[in-house]
Amino acid sequence: MTQAQWVDVSAVDDLPADDVIGIEIPGHDIAIYSVGDRVYATENICTHGQARLSDGFLEGCEIECPLHQGKFDVRDGKPLCEPVTEPLRSYTVKIEGGRVLVRIA
Ligand code: FES
Repeated sequence: MTQAQWVDVSAVDDLPADDVIGIEIPGHDIAIYSVGDRVYATENICTHGQARLSDGFLEGCEIECPLHQGKFDVRDGKPLCEPVTEPLRSYTVKIEGGRVLVRIA
């Protein structure tokens, strides 16, 4: 079994406020969402097609896919409206020393 590890993906101060960015690390394409003073992370590829959610539109805790406008809750990856039906993988995030760390299993 592979050990989970915390991966440093960004400085908190480098995240655009109330917006989303894409981060690629080996084997993972991750969307990082800044919502108020909280940070969330999900896989970056929509479960409906080959669109990157970091190119989509974030409103509150909802990310809208740029391709067919499906929406997900960024807090847990839950699909919120058609055409998306499958949840996104979500990642646990913690902030330490001004850095954003994502737990990769
Ligand atoms: S590819 Fe995202 S809703 Fe279709």
